[in-house]
Amino acid sequence: MTRYGYHIAPQQGWSNDPNGLCYFQGRYHVFFQNNPLETNTKTIGWAHVSSVDLIHWKREPMALMPDQDYDQDGCFSGSAIQVGEALYLLYTGHKNLAQDYAETQCLAVSQDAVTFEKFENNPIITTPPTGNTHRFRDPKVWQEQEKFYAVIGGESRENLGQVNLYQSDSITGPWEYVRQVAQAQTGQGTMWECPDYFTLDGKRVLLISPKGLDTTYKGGFDTTYFLSDEPACFEEMQVLDAGTDFYAAATFFDPIKQRRLVWGWFGLPGEQEKESQQQVGALTLPRELRIKEGSLWMQPIAELCELREQQQNLANGLVIAETTEIIFQSKNLSAFTLKLSTEQASYQISCAHQQLTLEIKDALRDRIDKVSLDMLEEVRLFLDRGLTELFINNGQLTFTNKCELRGPIMIETNGITNGKVYLLASDEKIWQ
Ligand code: FRU
Repeated sequence: MTRYGYHIAPQQGWSNDPNGLCYFQGRYHVFFQNNPLETNTKTIGWAHVSSVDLIHWKREPMALMPDQDYDQDGCFSGSAIQVGEALYLLYTGHKNLAQDYAETQCLAVSQDAVTFEKFENNPIITTPPTGNTHRFRDPKVWQEQEKFYAVIGGESRENLGQVNLYQSDSITGPWEYVRQVAQAQTGQGTMWECPDYFTLDGKRVLLISPKGLDTTYKGGFDTTYFLSDEPACFEEMQVLDAGTDFYAAATFFDPIKQRRLVWGWFGLPGEQEKESQQQVGALTLPRELRIKEGSLWMQPIAELCELREQQQNLANGLVIAETTEIIFQSKNLSAFTLKLSTEQASYQISCAHQQLTLEIKDALRDRIDKVSLDMLEEVRLFLDRGLTELFINNGQLTFTNKCELRGPIMIETNGITNGKVYLLASDEKIWQ
């Protein structure tokens, strides 16, 4: 049994970023960074799960492991693309050197999305552009008309995060450098990891995960984004998720339901290292990205309702299971409190005077977040053995936080009417 009930998580070892999101040969494929051998980041490869409906998942063999000179210290993050009948993974080969490290961009190909073969002419991009340091990783590839493009995360020689664009006539190259797409202002991060670049609801979106942000909040890490009209000009950086445990988010366009889906790493560098279990890390639930009122919303995908099993009314004194969804409507920002507690942990949402407050306590965490709101219509919370995903107003605001709510959870409520609690399917009902 994995540590979590219905979230994608490794069977063994350490995990971080989502990678290679795609739909191929009738199935959704999600890969993620995983060291199956130990709970540290030493031997990182790509774990792989697949699904027909985004609810029930099948574990596939590890897709990539470090076994070549150019990726000997990690098959780092990247993306996937179908070309003809084949599925290509574009990833970063990471190799430690005496002083620093080398990062190159590499390809692997599969005909069946089970067995992947590394390209014989790897690496296909061998050096970063001038002006970029050796921190050069996490290619996101896409195709427009006949051409292939990739954005790659990096760091300028002045220690500012940046994203560079490459293009090629063929997935296997030669790849040529086009230009820098965006660069951090001072304080916006020293290295921009996991870039993603796409059009949504008529806007250009640049999604990045900066490290070294000029704030102690979230240890200097966060997933952020810029929105722009054409021609792309990225100025105002916005934060994607208000919680602590959300990083390295990646998206893809779902051709079946014509929507852009996003998964984040349910964790944060520096924070996740504090956990001592045999399985560490998870991905968030799939969310649908939309642009509304000038910002990105992350809505829980509609399919998540299929997880629901038994329904109960939310009530003071109720004891609920650890794999549960709670949902209630709120009118006119009226005051309420919802407190969930076990012997080891507590999680409290409250609303008063147009302010939402989230208080989280367990052995590793003790934090309070406060956010001002103009409206509050719906509160929806997913619990999964220590993972909490809170959606306000169907994704206008999200809080992704770990909080070790395990075992029976005691509910205290005040000011909430018409709340519902659903027991959610988990474990063998989710995993084939
Ligand atoms: C982001 C990141 C990526 C890198 C991967 C290594 O969390 O640092 O930049 O490719 O993790 O696991």
